[in-house]
Amino acid sequence: MKTQGVDVNVTINNVLKTLTVAQDESLLLALRRASYFSVKSGCDDGTCGVCTVLINGKPERSCKIKALAVEGAEITTIEGLGDVEMLHPLQKAFMETGAIQCGFCTPAQILRAKALLDENSNPTEDEIRHALNGVLCRCTGYVRGVDAVQRAAAKMRGKTVEPFSHIEQTLPQDLAKIELPHAFYRRDGSRNPLPPLVFTPLEMTTTRIVGKPEVKVDAKKLVQGRPVFTDDFRLEGMLYGALLTSPHAHAHIRRIDASRARELPGVHAVLTCEDIPRIKYTSGGQSYPQPLPYDQVSLDKKVRHVGDRVAIAAAETLELAQEALSLINVEYDLLPAVVDPEAAMQDGAPIIHDETDSEGIYDAERNIVHHIEAQVGDVDAAFAEADYLFEGTYRTPKQQQVHLEPHVCITYFDEDERLVIRTSTQVPFHIRRMVAPLIGLPVKKIRVIKPRIGGGFGNKQELILEDLCAHLTLATNRPMRMEYTRTQEFTSSRSRHANIIRYKIGVKDEKVTAASLYLIGDTGAYGAHALTVNMVGGFKGLTLYNPPNVQFVSDVVYTDTPPAGAFRGYGAMQCQFGIEVLMEEIADKLGLNVVEFKRSNWLKVGEPMHLSKSLGEGREGVEQSLQTSALDLCVDIGRLATNFEAKREKYRQQDGRYRHGIGMAVVMHGSGIADLDMASATLKMNDDGSFNLLMGATDLGTGSDTILAQMAAEILGVPLDDIIVYSSDTDFTPFDKGAYASSTTYISGGAVRKAALKIKAQILEHAGLMLGGIDATDLELQDRRVNAADGRSISLAEIGLSSLHQQNQHQIIASASHKSPLSPPPTAAQFAEIVVDMETGKINTERLLMVVDCGRVINPATASGQVEGGMAQALGFALEEEMLFDDDGQPLNPNLSRYRIPRAAEMPAMDVIFVQTDEPSGPFGAKSVSEIAIDGVSPAMASALHDATGIWMRELPYTAERVKAALKRAGH
Ligand code: FES
Repeated sequence: MKTQGVDVNVTINNVLKTLTVAQDESLLLALRRASYFSVKSGCDDGTCGVCTVLINGKPERSCKIKALAVEGAEITTIEGLGDVEMLHPLQKAFMETGAIQCGFCTPAQILRAKALLDENSNPTEDEIRHALNGVLCRCTGYVRGVDAVQRAAAKMRGKTVEPFSHIEQTLPQDLAKIELPHAFYRRDGSRNPLPPLVFTPLEMTTTRIVGKPEVKVDAKKLVQGRPVFTDDFRLEGMLYGALLTSPHAHAHIRRIDASRARELPGVHAVLTCEDIPRIKYTSGGQSYPQPLPYDQVSLDKKVRHVGDRVAIAAAETLELAQEALSLINVEYDLLPAVVDPEAAMQDGAPIIHDETDSEGIYDAERNIVHHIEAQVGDVDAAFAEADYLFEGTYRTPKQQQVHLEPHVCITYFDEDERLVIRTSTQVPFHIRRMVAPLIGLPVKKIRVIKPRIGGGFGNKQELILEDLCAHLTLATNRPMRMEYTRTQEFTSSRSRHANIIRYKIGVKDEKVTAASLYLIGDTGAYGAHALTVNMVGGFKGLTLYNPPNVQFVSDVVYTDTPPAGAFRGYGAMQCQFGIEVLMEEIADKLGLNVVEFKRSNWLKVGEPMHLSKSLGEGREGVEQSLQTSALDLCVDIGRLATNFEAKREKYRQQDGRYRHGIGMAVVMHGSGIADLDMASATLKMNDDGSFNLLMGATDLGTGSDTILAQMAAEILGVPLDDIIVYSSDTDFTPFDKGAYASSTTYISGGAVRKAALKIKAQILEHAGLMLGGIDATDLELQDRRVNAADGRSISLAEIGLSSLHQQNQHQIIASASHKSPLSPPPTAAQFAEIVVDMETGKINTERLLMVVDCGRVINPATASGQVEGGMAQALGFALEEEMLFDDDGQPLNPNLSRYRIPRAAEMPAMDVIFVQTDEPSGPFGAKSVSEIAIDGVSPAMASALHDATGIWMRELPYTAERVKAALKRAGH
């Protein structure tokens, strides 16, 4: 960036520096330009706090401070904490407790904690939360961050602190004898972080590295703020790209004139729909062939939502690129907009996709992109025979993913004239395949690199910026950088489908004998993921209770709002909200014990999942039955931990302004897409006995690099440190479908396990040769050595050297691929404890507890982090998060000031208990854990709200206004 050349003298991390800055430049931009890449940018208005630095010891948001204003100041960034060898106690504690997931917020959180501890060496948990409150984290739920600060503070005061670990308990034979560690009863009402508690069945085999809370393999570089994210990278001659978006929800572009923009000095290219070939595609990053419709083009001559793409510019600076966009003259023919999915299906509604070249739209004139039907058994007959019929309509909102790292992409031609796309994506291999036809290059001319990702939650399972950035590199022959603003994340990326969920249930002899579900999905302006999200919703929403007679009908509908897409939970959480609340309502009306009513009806081990064949994901599925489930135990352990029945009894007597409630929900999810998801891994041995693990699997902060390396280390008899992980790069790592559908542990783990077993066989064979011809079956691999029965032993380093340089010279290397005919469901019980203010309607959440069966827990620290983070996102979904639009499709809350996500000080106590099962089809018995974590909070909230107030609320989120209105309607 060229600057006006004003010098500012500052001390940064104890070193005197002169920054040359522009008059209006923020400290954030000046620091990043000076390569302090730990200082992050996550919003446009100073609300997210990831840009926090210490100025004269005080935490400040560097985006809100002019660089010129810090003359003479002392600035500390995370690069100034500790050094390469000796980390600061806060950095160590964040690593050890698993407080780091994607790591994008971590430098700012640690700096805020440091400022607190500099003033107060023994802060309370409330004070720690208050300190962390200034930095948003979307991954963790803040649980481990608070834990980390408490531990670091104690260490700095000279106290002895036990190493972070989970608590493991064997499941007793007599389940009535289950006892929990005292703290898990939460009798003191505190919200102090508790370690994850893991119950292990007696018969489960013991493991050495799998099952241990190993520190994440990428934790150190993240805690040090190293330049590991997409945007922490500069290329000589790099240009900056910007995107012009539509201010209108529905319009034809009559004329577009970019001539003035192109004449602006420093502008290298301006592209509109007149400059880019019209090639239809769908932006959802899914396996080939992607589900229809193909209803998008890179730049269209029609806009269908505020924030739709109009034009792009490349210039020497971002400011110049934005100025160029402002000089483009666009003349729109405005069209009426429709934002309500039910209105969009009516005759006479505006037709959003009136073009003739889109492919795969079910009924464009009624804005219905997909109509889905599936049926098993005879629903009508079962309804006719039922003792009772119950119906309920439930509504769930459009929620934004709010990963703290925005979509960002850098494209350039390498020395071989191949296009390199460095991008924050969950699906590098899908991106390479999908972008190729759009930019007119063959796949072999494209390399996609996925660096560390600052969160995705599904929103990066999508082609968002890559085609535009690549078009600008093609037009300019220069490296390009493009990044969304936070507002563009709300208006121009993706979100959760808003749903209208209509259930009808027949009950006979207290059994659910039939269920029908009519699901309306609001896909917004385009249909990526429209088919699969709503199919998954139908499948999970009708399989949790799995009656023999089921019917699913869904209309997925276009509206003039930003497109929906993939978001953790993927339709299942919406439909499980509906079914769980209706089951509660039924038990309430029939006077049944709700837990026992659900228990007698939920899917059980050995039962076929009736809809598994007819509702696959975008294609016909496969017959499946439930192999493992500890749902009974999850529910009973949760009841014990919360004193569920006693509290319900007690709350029956209450009155007054503040009323307590406790609620429970059961949920299930899947582990990958059966018979479709495929992953591969390559392992190779080095001459010191270490291993490179090359994977296309995409760690977006979840810890998948770590747990996959743990699996390899377990089989190869080495510590985790001996596995060097590299993921993912389409040139250097084997194919993986990417990180989505809760597939990485189960599917990618299956590939790693197979590759490691092949390597193990090669090692034993070579060791046998070195030992004079001993058969591999008589050898044992452990602790970095191969041991023979006669006592002789050789190290892996000796085997590595021998295989590469001496005997039978060859590279010990193996690749393996894996897919599964099954998608075994993890199951869980979610508990919520709340207090409702009967005057304002405000819900205060006191505790969230999830008891989860995710098969074998590969790493209790990363797994509990997934559950805590999922519950936090679900809490936002239940209580406050909703993208709002006026009748003309104008967004009402497209920023983090108006669209609030939970902050550290607002969080309840959040506890995680695992009840392990040994899933026979999973690597080491594992199922998935990432998505189920988000499924249960909203129905548990509904249950708790009814317990507290006697009202059922069928529409989320439960904002204070909505609750107050519902209370008023109920006569309170
Ligand atoms: Fe905090 Fe990802 S770890 S935003």
